[in-house]
Amino acid sequence: MTRGLHLLAAIGFFLVAAAAGDVAYQWQIPSWMVLPPDAVTATMSESRVALGRALFYDTRLSVDGTMSCASCHRQGKAFTDGEVTHRGVHGDAGLRNVPSIVNLAYMPVLNWANPNLKSVEVQVLIPLFGNAPVEMGMAGKENALFEKLNRDCRMRQLLLAAYPVKSGFDMEALTGGLASFVRSIVSFSSPYDRYKRLGDADAISPSAKHGEALFFGEKMECSHCHSGPTFSDNFQSRALPFPGISFHNTGLYNEDGLGAYPSNNHGVRDITGRPPDEGKFRTPSLRNVALTAPYMHDGSVATLPAVIRDHYAKGGRAATGPNGRSPLRDPLITGFSATDEDTRDLVAFLESLTDDNLLTNPAYSAPAHSPRCTH
Ligand code: HEC
Ligand code: HEC
Repeated sequence: MTRGLHLLAAIGFFLVAAAAGDVAYQWQIPSWMVLPPDAVTATMSESRVALGRALFYDTRLSVDGTMSCASCHRQGKAFTDGEVTHRGVHGDAGLRNVPSIVNLAYMPVLNWANPNLKSVEVQVLIPLFGNAPVEMGMAGKENALFEKLNRDCRMRQLLLAAYPVKSGFDMEALTGGLASFVRSIVSFSSPYDRYKRLGDADAISPSAKHGEALFFGEKMECSHCHSGPTFSDNFQSRALPFPGISFHNTGLYNEDGLGAYPSNNHGVRDITGRPPDEGKFRTPSLRNVALTAPYMHDGSVATLPAVIRDHYAKGGRAATGPNGRSPLRDPLITGFSATDEDTRDLVAFLESLTDDNLLTNPAYSAPAHSPRCTH
């Protein structure tokens, strides 16, 4: 009997200790916005987010100690880097423009064009251990990395809070922490949200209001693909039974008259091998888009006015090249005439999607080092 009680007390203590290390995650999301799916929330905890935040800013995650996740995903640029593509630690040219890793908890598929990549835990393996291109160069260095992190008293504290049953770092803790932090990055407090959701009529300019009408209008068709609260038709939430997943060819390239894209970047076709998937990419969210230049999967469009004038208005940029409009472009990309004023106003609308809080929110910044940590 006494033995049984001791055992119960021990189990009770263990459960309390585990729960204390694993506080349920509270989304920092305004009340008008639906929450991400329950399954996403279930993988999160405050302590895993804290662990992931420390890892995200840690240059020990690259083979020569020069690169962290934040080298390419910089908070001040809405977690992009301002470059066309970013070289890896060995100088390998990047293949794709660095995307803004914001509101990913609502994205059912990840990366520019991979219908099979649905888990952030799996995505983060690519920059760490990928070899085409090499980014952080850690392939084969997994155990050395775990040992290095185990020797760091602060990292151990964060690990034990996030994963109380573990005695040291492993792949689950590394990817689970990073993924939890990345998913915690949300952005829903732009001037446009204050105007649209909170009823502040003066939060955006008359020019942006005209741009809003163009964006949602039938002439330009932008909102058919850049739809919903993240301005992307790739969207999942707690309120939807199924995720929405879409990829489109916007007619950027027509290398051969048949709609081919450059040889190193065929979009979804690189994954599926299907010819109709040539040039198809995920519709990017347009939140904070004014900060994420240059644009498109390969960073080949420099500015927002150029996106409108030189790409969409032409019915796809390929229209101005030797082979003309791409036969593979989405039927919604028909071209339109836009006055200078229209372009300016549409840009003003896109600028109203910039969330200054995202850029300075300390919850997303590099953590201060704890001076009192001892072994
Ligand atoms: C060398 C630059 C670079 C580094 C370093 C880097 N990334 Fe990225 N990241 C990219 C690029 C480029 C893509 C888009 C890849 C693609 O679509 O093929 C991307 C995509 C992502 C995505 C998917 C975003 C989306 O919109 O679907 C996540 C999540 C992500 N990175 C997290 C991380 C984390 C966590 C780290 C650190 C372990 C990291 N990245 C390090 C360049 C980088
Ligand atoms: C048929 C669907 C579709 C329509 C219509 C559409 N877009 Fe896009 N948009 C996309 C896709 C897909 C991409 C990525 C294409 C790529 O990288 O090759 C994109 C990229 C962009 C980008 C670059 C974002 C970044 O992070 O690089 C901007 C800006 C943009 N669109 C604005 C607009 C505007 C403004 C309109 C209306 C004039 C519009 N889009 C109409 C699907 C669409």
